[in-house]
Amino acid sequence: MMEWTDRHCRFLHRRLTRHALLYTEMVTAEAIIRGDRARLLKFHSCEHPVALQLGGSEPDRLAQAARIGADMGYDEINLNVGCPSDRVQSGRFGACLMREPMLVADCVAAIRARVSVPVTVKCRIGVDDQDPEVALPTLVDACVAAGVTTFAVHARKAWLEGLSPKENREVPPLDYDLVYRLKREKPQLTIVLNGGVGTLDEVDTHIRHVDGVMMGRAAYQTPALLADVDARLFGGEARTIDEAVEDYIEYIGEQLAQGVPLNAMTRHMLGLFNGRPGARQFRRHLSENATKRGANVETLRTALSFLARDARVAA
Ligand SMILES: Cc1cc2nc3c(=O)[nH]c(=O)nc-3n(C[C@H](O)[C@H](O)[C@H](O)COP(=O)(O)O)c2cc1C
Repeated sequence: MMEWTDRHCRFLHRRLTRHALLYTEMVTAEAIIRGDRARLLKFHSCEHPVALQLGGSEPDRLAQAARIGADMGYDEINLNVGCPSDRVQSGRFGACLMREPMLVADCVAAIRARVSVPVTVKCRIGVDDQDPEVALPTLVDACVAAGVTTFAVHARKAWLEGLSPKENREVPPLDYDLVYRLKREKPQLTIVLNGGVGTLDEVDTHIRHVDGVMMGRAAYQTPALLADVDARLFGGEARTIDEAVEDYIEYIGEQLAQGVPLNAMTRHMLGLFNGRPGARQFRRHLSENATKRGANVETLRTALSFLARDARVAA
């Protein structure tokens, strides 16, 4: 998620769950080809499995960017066919590509020809006046013909005329049934459901109908829920929040030494202790102090001192 799931966020999330697949923010092919690759694509070796999400609609450029990402070690290349922002539409990529399934197919075919890691697609169920019953399977079929077998479907339309990106994540109604049906009708595909999933109980319900569930805002805003993911969904061990935080503090120390400001890392922790006594003071201390010159690990430790420690926190 743009501006949210940067490498610091992903490091923290990986300390909370070893098994969930993590995604980068969407990065445009042009940014990767022409921009500061090291800065855009750098990630920590602990982040695996981690998917690089690309934005774009020029097959050759996407293929070139994907190759760069795959060579850097990303485990999957995902093409964004779901982002509704104006900026993205004017560049002719994101959700507006729901109208151009053959172009999307050309893009994924070109990417697949250049990388050996899985190439996946994140899409909507349709845009504007499209009929999702037609638009979703049409896009999926075109991509399947190009060799894609995994789709993450944000189970609502994007209304490209008249809604802001934020409204486009809330206003168009969710149609989980359509995504369930996609899986039923194409059982050979890996179908991941996305949109409006707030708790692991909801994940348990969806997972009876699809192969996976992608959580966006809930994972970011209440990351403590990730600490239960391994035990509940992967047969692994639950992590404690406090263990994860200790690992993150060590990481923060290393990053501070490399000139990363404290707030760039602590901002991803603000929702971590929601519901725990002292959470508000924790957040306030960080909001007021983490951007100050010289803010360091002690600033974070002081914020943590407001919390009742050593509890496994339910999200
Ligand atoms: C701040 C923000 C940034 C986002 N950036 C991306 C992005 O870069 N790529 C993408 O596929 N979806 C992006 N999304 C959409 C989410 O991935 C997800 O599809 C959407 O929020 C619905 O899922 P949720 O209800 O679990 O959040 C973003 C969402 C938010 C809130």
